[in-house]
This record gives sequence, C-alpha cells and structure tokens, in this order.
Amino acid sequence: MALSIIPAGILRRVIGPPRPCLLTRQNVRCFTVLALESSADDTCAAIVNSDREIVSNVVVKQHSFHEQFGGIHPMHAIWAHQRHMPGAVRKALHDAGMTMNSIDGIAYTRGPGMAGCLSVCSNAAKTLAAATSKPIVGVHHMQAHALMPLLTTPDISFPFLTLLISGGHTLLLLARSWRSFQTLATTPDESIGNAFDKVSKMLKIPWGKLGPGAALEQYCLNDYDQQLPEIIPPLPSGQPGKLAFSYSGLHSGVERYIAVRNGDLDDPTKLALARAFQTAAVGQLEEKLLLALHWCRQNGVVIRDIIVSGGVASNKFLRRRLEFACRDFKFDDAAVRLVSPPQELCTDNAVMIGWASMDRFLAQDYDEYEIETRPKWDIQELQ
Ligand code: KG4
Ligand code: ZN
Repeated sequence: MALSIIPAGILRRVIGPPRPCLLTRQNVRCFTVLALESSADDTCAAIVNSDREIVSNVVVKQHSFHEQFGGIHPMHAIWAHQRHMPGAVRKALHDAGMTMNSIDGIAYTRGPGMAGCLSVCSNAAKTLAAATSKPIVGVHHMQAHALMPLLTTPDISFPFLTLLISGGHTLLLLARSWRSFQTLATTPDESIGNAFDKVSKMLKIPWGKLGPGAALEQYCLNDYDQQLPEIIPPLPSGQPGKLAFSYSGLHSGVERYIAVRNGDLDDPTKLALARAFQTAAVGQLEEKLLLALHWCRQNGVVIRDIIVSGGVASNKFLRRRLEFACRDFKFDDAAVRLVSPPQELCTDNAVMIGWASMDRFLAQDYDEYEIETRPKWDIQELQ
C-alpha cells in the first residue's frame, strides 16, 4: 500500500546540497531505504527513498492482543514481533513492487525502547544487510518522530521547537539540525502517553482497534445528551511554572477520585472525568510550550515552527488546543506555526526510521553490523 507519493527533489532543500550517494554511470540516482521498527508494540516495515517518496508502509498493530493485559506485555510483544516481522518485510517489498536488489540500505530502530522488542528489528535488519551486503544505519526513535514532518511539510527550517509525546517520552526539545537536539523539558516520572493509557484502563474504556489513548480521545467525544451531574475538582497539574513535565500526579488524581467512590461511576461522571483528565493533560503541554517559547526569546533563538509528534500527537483535541495556545506568540512580528505529521505517521511507523536515516546514508556514514541496541539513549548524545 503506497501511503503517499511526495514530489521529488524536495529532500535536497531539507537536508542541504546533494552529496554523492549511489553513483551510476550517468549520474547520481536516488537512494532507497528499507526501514524496520519494533521498539514497542507495533511491527513496522517501510520503503522510503531520497526523492521523498513513501514507497510502501506496513504497520502491524498489537493493541487488541495487549488489551487483556491492560498494557504492553513485554514477552508477548517480543513474540508478536517475531511472528510479524518477516511478513511485514515481505509485504513492504511486495507493495513497492521491489526485491532486495532494489534496496540500497537498511535502517532500523536502535533505541530507545523495550530491549527485547528492539532486538527483533535490529537482528532482522543486520541479518538482511549481511546476507545482501547492504549498509545499515541504526536510528534514534525519538529523533525519527521529530524529523517526520520534514518529509511531509517541506518548508520547515532549523531551529525549531519539538514536542515529542509518546508512550515512553514527554520531551520538549530545541532542534538545531538533523542531529542536534537540546532538551528543554522532560518528565522525571511518567510520560503523557502512559498516563492516557492508565486512565483509559481505570475508566474501563474498550480499546477496540484504536488502542488505549486514542480510545480515550474517542470516548470524550460522546454526548449523553444531558447535563454532566458532577463537577470534577481540578486535577493536579505537573510542576507549574517550571520547564519540566510530570504526569504521575495527574494519573494518581484520577485514581483517587475513582477509589473514594469505590470504582462506582455512572456514565456521565465517567465521561466528565475522562474529559477533565484529557484537558488537564493537554493543559500541562500548553503551559510548558509557552514557557519554552519564552525561553527561546530570552536566549535569542528565533523559532518559526513547533513540531508536535509521537503517538499522543495524533489526538485532535490536543492539536487544536496547542494551536490556540500559541496563536499570539510572535518572533519579530511573525507567528509560530504548529506542524504535526499526518495521524498515521504520528504513531509508530518505519517510514520515520527510513527518513531519519537518510542524511547518514547519503553521507555514507554507516554503522558496523556489530553495533548493539540502546534501550536507553539520550537524544542529546546524537550530536
Ligand atoms: O509513538 P507511539 O506510537 O509509541 C511509542 O513510541 O511509545 O505512542 C504510543 C502512545 C500510547 O500511549 C498511545 O495510547 C498514545 O500514544 N496515543 C494516544 C492517541 N493515539 C495514540 N494518546 C492520546 N490520544 C490519541 N489519539
Ligand atoms: Zn514512538
């Protein structure tokens, strides 16, 4: 399934002047990457090229399977990746109408992520590469989320602010280049995605095919056609006034509210609580984003774009609220723009891994086949 075909040539505008990649007899031809991702609960394979084409994109989700465990079960996730990865690679090649002969390099998620899960895409990528004598690049998963919109929105320029909100991370970064990221805010406890997942589980919202966070967003859209009976008291906000996140207090606030009622909530109260949680979770992002914009202004950093990416960024309520929060902030009289990848490229996928590997492949900066995975990996180390 080709997701989208993006006009050729724009990549060079994004990553600078062309550098020799594969020299054919006539000229330089575009570089084609097979990318693999399995850092959490999605098994992904995709083919992307340096002409900015998403040639194929396969995502095998495990949500419905993990629902019975109330979260990602590590061993079952590894086993599912082992079952799905060969088929995902075969389908990515089939959908692209390609064989391994047409692939120039193989990219995979090196970290951060769940150790056992990472080893599936890492071993698959390295073994395929060794058998076919292709170069490999191991990619930082959060760097890939941050750079995804550079493929889909061509006129983004550095430096930009990026808010990366996923199951494992809540990061607010200043990106100065493809590999230079400065952490302005992170969470010492829980990620926003984890809080969404736990609250979704506490409220017993069925995940269906959506997964816990998206199911909670969907649930909040319900209208019971009646006044909500009870006003939910304000839920704790994380580290107010500080450039730092915290989501454990918010999730515990919801837990306490349910516990004092012995878990017995009628539907309208449950809906009011879900909405109060979602509003408070997003409210914390709004506050920190504005603090970061002020920090940039005070430090003479002019920002034109804010990139919001990662699974939680597919939440439409959140995107609208963040756009509204930043609408009046200006640098030199120019407004800042909020950019997110299309919904299906916000959540985990291998397109972003292939795309983030591209500047290294084009610079012939490959990894050794022996490199190890990095389950914990600070994005600032990339520089
Ligand atoms: O980036 P991602 O797909 O995987 C990780 O790298 O962790 O993010 C997954 C997280 C999960 O916590 C999931 O429940 C959450 O993103 N998520 C959402 C939505 N869609 C996915 N959270 C809130 N609203 C959504 N629409
Ligand atoms: Zn992710």
